[in-house]
Amino acid sequence: MVKIHLTTQFIITILLLHILTSIQSKSFSRNLSRKSLDFKKEKLTHLHFYFHDIVIARHPTAIKVASSPTTNTSSSFFGLVMMMDDPLTLTPEPGSKVLGRAQGIYASADLKELGFLMVLNYCFTEGKYNGSTLSILGRNAAFTSMREMPVVGGSGLFRFARGYAQAKTHSLDYKTGNAVVEYDVFVLHY
Ligand SMILES: *[C@@H]1O[C@H](CO)[C@@H](O)[C@H](O)[C@H]1NC(C)=O
Ligand SMILES: *[C@@H]1O[C@H](CO)[C@@H](O)[C@H](O)[C@H]1NC(C)=O
Ligand SMILES: *[C@@H]1O[C@H](CO)[C@@H](O)[C@H](O)[C@H]1NC(C)=O
Repeated sequence: MVKIHLTTQFIITILLLHILTSIQSKSFSRNLSRKSLDFKKEKLTHLHFYFHDIVIARHPTAIKVASSPTTNTSSSFFGLVMMMDDPLTLTPEPGSKVLGRAQGIYASADLKELGFLMVLNYCFTEGKYNGSTLSILGRNAAFTSMREMPVVGGSGLFRFARGYAQAKTHSLDYKTGNAVVEYDVFVLHY
């Protein structure tokens, strides 16, 4: 009898301790292994495409959403804010296969020379990257031959992405402002 009683008491004590410690360690964060979320080996991917910024056309893909009264007189269009949903294609031709879209904002953020603040997502719609996105946040001095913008993140196949995008103007119509820009994007992801 005494033996059974002691055993029961022991079990109850252990249970109480267990409950107490689990309450104590209840937390909003936990440590995970990369494998548990299926992140195996980091990869380096190179993407190459052409970006079409169509400002003046029957169906523009970039529109002005804001400007300041001084934007017109500024040589760098300082204060101009454009919203874009620009197609990304395989080759420079406008009818070329669409791989995705560049959706976001470019805004003139430099008082002296043309320097856009770029805040956008590449939303891919083709092949294995269909549904995955990359996020870009950077400076684009559009009149320099090569610009570089950081890749700050991504979704889908591009989770944990980081890298950089290099931009080179392929063609620019000075009358309309319509431009085709070649992009090489180098991205680390899982
Ligand atoms: C996570 O790991 C760190 C470093 O090893 C450790 O200090 C921390 O206590 C762990 N956190 C949890 C919730 O296990
Ligand atoms: C700026 O330019 C736009 C379009 O060219 C025009 O509609 C607007 O009146 C101009 N604003 C000023 C302050 O000159
Ligand atoms: C991309 O994904 C969407 C949504 O799942 C689907 O409707 C579409 O057909 C896919 N496109 C291609 C080219 O696979």
